[in-house]
This record gives sequence, C-alpha cells and structure tokens, in this order.
Amino acid sequence: MTRWGKTHDVAIAAALKKGRRASIPVYETDLGTAYCGDSLKVLKSRPLQEQRGKVQLAFTSPPFPLNTKKNYGNLQGEDYIRWFAKFAPLLRDMVTNDGSIVIEIGNAWMPGQPTMSTHVLEAFLRFLKKGDLHLCQEFIWYNPARLPSPIEWVNKERSRVKDAFTRIWWMSPNPRPKADNRKVLREYSPSMKRLIETGKYNAGARPSEHHIGAESFKADNNGAIPPNVGGVDALPSMDGVITPKGFAEYLEETTNLLKAANTLSSDGYRKFCLDRGAPVHPARMPSTLVEFFVKFLTDEGDTVLDPFAGSNTTGAVAQSLDRRWLSVEADWTYGAHSIGRFDPEQVTSTCSEISISEIGDEATLFSGSATKRITGAAGELPTAAE
Ligand SMILES: C[S@@+](CC[C@H](N)C(=O)[O-])C[C@H]1O[C@@H](n2cnc3c(N)ncnc32)[C@H](O)[C@@H]1O
Repeated sequence: MTRWGKTHDVAIAAALKKGRRASIPVYETDLGTAYCGDSLKVLKSRPLQEQRGKVQLAFTSPPFPLNTKKNYGNLQGEDYIRWFAKFAPLLRDMVTNDGSIVIEIGNAWMPGQPTMSTHVLEAFLRFLKKGDLHLCQEFIWYNPARLPSPIEWVNKERSRVKDAFTRIWWMSPNPRPKADNRKVLREYSPSMKRLIETGKYNAGARPSEHHIGAESFKADNNGAIPPNVGGVDALPSMDGVITPKGFAEYLEETTNLLKAANTLSSDGYRKFCLDRGAPVHPARMPSTLVEFFVKFLTDEGDTVLDPFAGSNTTGAVAQSLDRRWLSVEADWTYGAHSIGRFDPEQVTSTCSEISISEIGDEATLFSGSATKRITGAAGELPTAAE
C-alpha cells in the first residue's frame, strides 16, 4: 500500500538536467536500481557491465513495431527488426549461464489494410539468431481488458475480430535454464479436487488416442501444472462431440493458459501519477504476468533486469518477491514516476532531480546519487533549463 502523500511526498523535476550521464541511477531501493536512458547505451555503461553474467532473468516488453506512433515512440519495419536484434547479444551477455530472457510482444498490422504484419515474428527470429539463443517455450497472453483493435477493421468495417493476445518468448543461451514449475502451481479445479478426493474417473483410451492410466490422476501434487496459453473462454465450442460444459472442464484442466488484465494491481502507481499530474504509462504489464515468470525462473536473491521498464512493473514485482532488480527506461517522466510503485521507506537514494520529504515534522529529503538526509523544503529542483 503506497503511502505517498500521507507520510511522504516527492518532488520530481520536469526534465533531466542536460548532459546528465544515463549511468547515474534515478532512484534505488535496498534491492534495485532504476536508470533513465537509451538501453543500448545504458546496458554498455560501467554499472550495468559490472552485472554482466549475473542477471538470472531479463524480462521485458519492448516497444512494438506499431503503425501509429504512441507516446513512447517506436520504429517500424526493417528498422525495428534491426534495432531490436541489437539487444540480443547484449542481453545474452547480461544473463547467467542458466539464465533466461523473456520477451512479450504484441501483434502489428499493416498500414491501411486489414492484414497482419509479420515484422514481430521476423524481429523475434532475428533476435533469436543474433543472440544464439534457444527458444525454451512460447506463451500466449490473452488480455481480456484490451480495447477492440485495430479499430478501423474491428469496429468500423467489422471485418476482423478483436486482436486480444500477445506472445511471450522464453529464451536462453542454455537449453536447460533454471526453471521449476513447482514454484508456480495453480489451485486444482473443483473437478480435479473431486477426482483426487474420490479417486474415481474413467481410465482407458480417449478419442484423442491418449491412454489415461488407472492411477494417472490420483496423486495430489499440491496444484496443477500451469499452462502456457491464455483465454480459453474466448474459444468457440467444438463439433458437439463434447458438451460445452464438458469442453470447458476439459480446457480448465488441460489447456495452457495465462490470463491477466492490466487494469489490475496498478492502482497505487496510477493514483501516484494522477495526483502529480503525470501521464500514467499506457502499456503497463499486469503484475501477475511478471510474477509468474519471476517465480518460475528465479530464486530469492537473484537479479531480474528490465531494459524497457516503462512504469517498472518488473522492478516492483521483483522487489516484492525479494529478488534484486535493474531497470532502464528511456522516458524520464515514466522512469521517474515509477518510483510511485515503491513505498517511500523502500527508497534508499534518488538522483538530484527527485526529492523525497517526510510529511509532518522537519522535512527530510533524499536527494543526490547517494542516500542523503537534507533538511529543508521539498521542491527546490533543477529545471530542464538549468
Ligand atoms: C511496452 S513499454 C513497457 C511497459 C512496462 N512493461 C510496464 O509495465 O510499464 C516499452 C517501454 O520502453 C521504453 N523504451 C523505448 N525505447 C527504449 C530504449 N531505447 N531504451 C529504454 N527504454 C526504451 C518506452 O519509453 C516504453 O516505456
């Protein structure tokens, strides 16, 4: 629960000082450091290079090759593919020998016509090749909160359906990166719980040619192995061989689904931005999604890196799970306001463009690249012109 505005306040400069080095942290907590700058440069800077080979998980959602410019900007076509591929060797060098790189990317559409662009797929293949990486598994993330898009073809012409999923690629320099699905087990479905309780089900051959053994489903493994695809409720029913109810139960138990909505879990951050008149990041990841991969692929004390951090969902989730974190965001406003995802007490230092004060007694500020206690009023901050 955020206490910004209750016990502490923060003053954030409108812009970074000109000529400021991007390798200076924007803010730090006991577990992590947030940087502001172009990742291509920041990842090559000394503080990040000191972490080379020590990152257990690089988890990120890069800008998509969209055909309409969004606030956070993006390249298109071959330019995007080339730009994106430059990160492959950089991220590969950052991760440990058994580390993982997990990338979430949405779909892109061709300009002016209702057909999909293959740039995302091409970008991914180029990335995989340039980084000499293994594709450990692909995941589909169904986002039920996504607005109908592309609006031209879905809402106006009505010739396409809502584009509501993104792909998540889990890659590694190692075909067997550290991973344990027992750390992300799901609660059993009611029917599976019943089955374990009663031990009764129909063993034998299935129309799918699978053979279900008499003991296969009797063991209680403390939860169901999670799936890798989301959104079963969006699938049409089948050809009538299986009843809709039976089909739903079958899917519930057997399909691979990651379902999350990015309207959840961002409330504190959202309020923090709105209270300060700052834009709320438009492409936030749901924290449940980050949580899944952080738990699945890392242990407490491991380091998680997000080179396109946006509102720093990754850092905040890593912090909450006692993992170390590093984040890089190019946009100052998004990067600086991501501090609102942390409790004021968790922040151990800020750059000179951010000052934290205690509300009440004598004001106590964090300001500067090391933790400092300064007495005085908050708000005397450098402006872009200084
Ligand atoms: C899809 S958003 C990430 C959102 C983030 N996962 C969250 O939950 O808030 C991509 C972010 O990458 C940032 N970005 C774009 N190019 C960048 C670069 N070269 N270096 C660092 N960040 C960059 C954009 O400003 C944007 O905030």
